[in-house]
Order: sequence, then C-alpha cells, then structure tokens
Amino acid sequence: MNPWNLVLGVGILLIVTLVWFVFYYCFNPHVDEPDGGARVVGSCGDVMEIRLKFEADRVVQGSPWTNGCAHSFNCVWAAVDLARGKTAEEILDIDAAMIRRAVGELPRDHWHCASLAAETLHAAIDNYMQAGWKTTSDSN
Ligand code: FES
Repeated sequence: MNPWNLVLGVGILLIVTLVWFVFYYCFNPHVDEPDGGARVVGSCGDVMEIRLKFEADRVVQGSPWTNGCAHSFNCVWAAVDLARGKTAEEILDIDAAMIRRAVGELPRDHWHCASLAAETLHAAIDNYMQAGWKTTSDSN
C-alpha cells in the first residue's frame, strides 16, 4: 500500500470535518452568555433548544436549535422570531397556535412540533425568570 494514499485519505477527512464544522457553526446561530434557555425533548424524541438574551426586559437575541425535521426547525425558529422584542410576560402568551400561524401550512400530523417549540420557549422563559441560564457543566 502506498503511504501517500493514507496521507491523502486523512487529509480529505480533515478537510471534510473542517467544512462540516464551519457550516454547522454558521447555520446554527448562538447566543453567548444567554439570560435564559432550555432544552426540551419531545415525545417523538426530537430535541429543541432555545437561548434568549434580554436587554431592558425585552428579548434582543435568540438562538433556536433542533435535531428534528424541517417542521421542527421552522417551528423553533418561528418561536424565537415571535419572542424578539417582547417581555417575558408577553412571551408566555405565545402558544402553539400562534407558532402554527407564523409557520403557515403545518400538516396536522406535525402540530406537535409547534407544541414542542412553545413548550421549549416557555421553559426558556421559566429559566430566565428563575435562576438564569446554567450549562450542564455548572451543575457539576
Ligand atoms: Fe418531533 Fe416535529 S417531528 S417535534
């Protein structure tokens, strides 16, 4: 076996990993030092995460994330979009129906995606109102 094939293979693997990391980083907005956040696992097994940054009691930045399907992605993004500029109390009024309307056509068998997004948003607000965002490493 030619050793250059091994070097070439490792090089290609490193480049693919680097490109994947850059795309993952760019397409997953993040909030540094969030004031509130939550990660919720739905009954379908999908995970949603929302991180929120507040200024003067209003959301100025939010980062949605999910490992779920396109409908989950749309719903968690819509939840964060609806939260922008609102106070914590106003955000608690955002429900699954509002998220479904914001998304547009959401198939009936995916309405639970909007429910999970609303649940995640409310959990993030609950976290904000209680102790603020804590990472897993904080609890260790
Ligand atoms: Fe699981 Fe949408 S399919 S939240």
